[in-house]
Amino acid sequence: MSHISDEKIPNNVNLTEDKKLQRALEQWQPDFLRWWMDMGPSGFQAHQVYLRTAVGVDANDWAHYDFVKMPDYRWGIFLADPVTDRRIPCGDSVGQPAWQDVPGEHRNTLRRLIVTQGDTEPASVEQQRMLGHSCPSMYDLRNLFQVNVEEGRHLWAMVYLLHRFFGRDGREEAEELLARRSGNEDHPRILGAFNEPIDDWLSFFMFTMFTDRDGKYQLLALAESGFDPLSRTTRFMLTEEAHHMFVGETGVGRVVQRTAELMRQAKDGDVRRAGGVDLATLQKYLNLWYSLSLDLFGSEVSTNAASFFAAGLKGRVKEEKFQDHVALEGAYPMEIPDRTGQLTRDEVPLRSAMNEVLRDAYVEDCQRGVDRWNKFLADAELSERFALPSRRFHRHQGVFAGLFFDPQGKPLSAEEWERHKDDWLPSAADRTFVKSLQAKAIVDPGKMANWIAAPPRGINGKPIEFEYVRAEA
Ligand SMILES: [Fe+2]
Ligand SMILES: [Fe+2]
Repeated sequence: MSHISDEKIPNNVNLTEDKKLQRALEQWQPDFLRWWMDMGPSGFQAHQVYLRTAVGVDANDWAHYDFVKMPDYRWGIFLADPVTDRRIPCGDSVGQPAWQDVPGEHRNTLRRLIVTQGDTEPASVEQQRMLGHSCPSMYDLRNLFQVNVEEGRHLWAMVYLLHRFFGRDGREEAEELLARRSGNEDHPRILGAFNEPIDDWLSFFMFTMFTDRDGKYQLLALAESGFDPLSRTTRFMLTEEAHHMFVGETGVGRVVQRTAELMRQAKDGDVRRAGGVDLATLQKYLNLWYSLSLDLFGSEVSTNAASFFAAGLKGRVKEEKFQDHVALEGAYPMEIPDRTGQLTRDEVPLRSAMNEVLRDAYVEDCQRGVDRWNKFLADAELSERFALPSRRFHRHQGVFAGLFFDPQGKPLSAEEWERHKDDWLPSAADRTFVKSLQAKAIVDPGKMANWIAAPPRGINGKPIEFEYVRAEA
């Protein structure tokens, strides 16, 4: 099963045996390529890029590196190998054989889950499309393109499920996935964070650190789906996703290292004047992308989340670690605000708290990344530290939406929020400053922009000064 065929659409799902499906996907393929040329990375489409491509789903051959022009990337359909006799891992039907086809009663819900996941993939490519023109190094440029082509492949993963299992509505949804546009007022992407601009590299690194990590947790929950094709698809996507978070965490980490260096060098301690990003600005970007990403988990108390779990469509991260897979008993303690933002402790039935359970795992994972950034500050003998803001801060979804809290989680009036919000989130002036550091692309192999440290090593054993992106044909 793990062999990937060398057809027009590379796949390990025996596409040639289903002519109707093959034809439908081959019709969608040129639409995808048109979308890629219109909305994918601006410039560089004729360049040779040193990219990782899957040639199989096994550990040995899913990461094959070579030079390829982005439009020639082998986008395809790769599912993780099936687990023998897999069972529905949670919910009311726990222990029954996993579904190989869509159960009629869950059809609409499943389609919605797949479309919502699928929509984020092209959205992020659209958000990032101008970044190549301001890259801090050729190494970073290559990493950007790696993330972009893989998000394109994740779109393929979801479109396969739509075409294969959802008939005509599935095909229509697949077209719509190419028609919505990030940030477009009339036809936006489905989720908030995927309509925010990513027009500087600090935002890109924060996005891949925090928003791609939300993606990881959504995929982990879908990997526990009783609908087996969705579980297998998302399991393979997770292997690719890890690199995106690596790009984010190490990207921010390198900025922190460089800032620390500049703080020690600059006699007046003025990092901005020395051409770096000051720690206060870094914290504001962190606050923004972390809070936008928390919203993606949905409401703290959610009947939708309860029904996804009950139906066995979504599970918890590594469901097998839990004792009780039915979760009908037990409660989850939560602080719920009233209309003024005053908090009271509440016991939420466990199934209704599943979004929060997933968010807990996410928050812990984010904290580990922030701890690693703080280690750079400690190593540089600086006393400042980064911190994740309270989960209540700057929320637009869930029980805290419409209320105001400071980064420590203290309730504020609307006036207090207005007065302070530029202290906590990037102001227009901060954004202008960050962009001013990135006025031109740095593309000499091995050279780094002044505001970011070099990575400790290159890609796939290649040196840092390797020419990862080449203009020649
Ligand atoms: Fe993705
Ligand atoms: Fe990603």
